[in-house]
Amino acid sequence: MAMTSPSDPFRIQQGLKYLRLHITNFLSYQSAVLDLADLVALVGPNATGKSNAVAAIKLLREIPIHGLPIAIARRGGFDQLRHRSSGRPYNPALRLDFQFDNEPISYYELKLRGLEGKRYEVKQERGSIFLRGDRYTFINKGGELTYNEKEEGGAVHTNGDRKIPVPVGQSAVSFPATFGIYIVTRILQLMQTVEINPALVGELQEPSSTREFEPDGSNAASMFEELNSETRSELVDELAAIVPGIRRIELRRLADKVTLAFVQEVSQGKRREFLAKQMSDGTLRAFSILLSMLQENRPALLVIEEPEIAIHLGALRTLVDIFRQQSESTQVLITTHSADIVDTIDIDALRVVWTEDGASRIAPVAEHTREPVRQGLITPGQLLRSDSLDPELS
Ligand SMILES: Nc1ncnc2c1ncn2[C@@H]1O[C@H](COP(=O)(O)OP(=O)(O)O)[C@@H](O)[C@H]1O
Ligand SMILES: [Mg+2]
Repeated sequence: MAMTSPSDPFRIQQGLKYLRLHITNFLSYQSAVLDLADLVALVGPNATGKSNAVAAIKLLREIPIHGLPIAIARRGGFDQLRHRSSGRPYNPALRLDFQFDNEPISYYELKLRGLEGKRYEVKQERGSIFLRGDRYTFINKGGELTYNEKEEGGAVHTNGDRKIPVPVGQSAVSFPATFGIYIVTRILQLMQTVEINPALVGELQEPSSTREFEPDGSNAASMFEELNSETRSELVDELAAIVPGIRRIELRRLADKVTLAFVQEVSQGKRREFLAKQMSDGTLRAFSILLSMLQENRPALLVIEEPEIAIHLGALRTLVDIFRQQSESTQVLITTHSADIVDTIDIDALRVVWTEDGASRIAPVAEHTREPVRQGLITPGQLLRSDSLDPELS
C-alpha cells in the first residue's frame, strides 16, 4: 500500500525501522549501543542512565526543529552534555542506524568537538541513506558540506568539489539543502518523547492549531479535537479498557480556553460527566499516552519514560498490549524500573542499563538468564526483583 499523505509526501515513514542508537561520550555514556525493535524497554535502577539515553534521542529530534545550538542549550549546554569521568571531558558523538524495508542499512552520525571555554564545533556529520533503490550521502566536515545523490536510473546529483558552507556551530540537518538531508530531518523528527504532566492535561488549555503533540500533554484537548471520529472512538475504547466506565470524551470551551469532558458510567446506566481537572492523574496520563500514539501525524518512534507512574498494574498491562498492537507502525521505547512492567515485556525486548567504572552501559539480558524465562521457570520481573536480571557482557 503505497499511499502518500500531506504530512509524509515522500513516504519516508513507510517501511521505516529505527535499528539502533550509538551513544559516545554523551552524558553518563562513554560508549554504548541501544538496539531498538518494535517494543523495547530500558530497565535499570535509578541514576544508571535511562533518561540520558532518552536525552540523546531528544537532542537528535530537536536539531532540525530548533537548530543545533538551541538543541544543545536545552540539554544544559555543551559542557554539561559531554561525558565526564575523573573530571576529564570527552568529545560526544551520536549515530542513529535505520532502515527502509529491505534496503541496506542507513545511518546519520554527528560528532562534536570541544573548543576553548565551553564552546564546541561540529567535527564531522554524515549521512548515508538507502531509500527505494536510490542512495543519498552527505558529509559535513569542518563546516563544509559535500553530497552525492544517486538515482536508480543512473542520474547522479553531486556538488563535486564545490563545498557548500554550513554556518559555524550548526548542523547541516538544520538546513536541508539536499534530499538526503531532508530525509534525515524527517527521521529525526519522527522520534517523539512523551513526558506527561497530568496537572497540565487537567488545566484549561489554550486552543492550539498545532498538529504536533506537546510532550507534557499541554495541548491534549486540541489534539484530541483534531482526531477523526474513527480514531477518537478507538482512543475512547482503549482508554475504557484501562479506566472502566469511560464512554465518551468531548471538547468543552470555557471562555477562551478549552478542556476535555470525560463521560463515565458511574453505576448501571447512570452517566456523569467529569472535566479533565477532576480525573485522576493516572487516567490523564494513560489518556495522553494513547493520544500521543494515535495523533494524526503519528510518530515513527515513541519514547515513554516510566509509564508506571500513577497507573495501576491492570491498566499497565493493557497499555503495554496497546503499545504492542501499534508497534508495527509506531515503534515504542519505554524506560522503567517497575518489575510489573518488565513482566509484560518479552525477555528479548529488555535492555539492561547499569553503571560500570563511572559510565553507563546498555545490553540485552544475558542468554543464561533468558533460558529459564523461556522455560517458564521464572519471570523477568522476578529476576529484576531479586537483582539477577544480568546483562549480556560482551
Ligand atoms: N556529563 C556527564 N558525565 C558523566 N555522568 C553524567 C553526566 N551527566 C549526568 N551524568 C550522570 O547521569 C546520572 C543520571 O542518569 P539518568 O539517565 O538521569 O538516570 P535514570 O536511569 O534514573 O534515568 C547522574 O547520576 C549523573 O551522575
Ligand atoms: Mg530517569
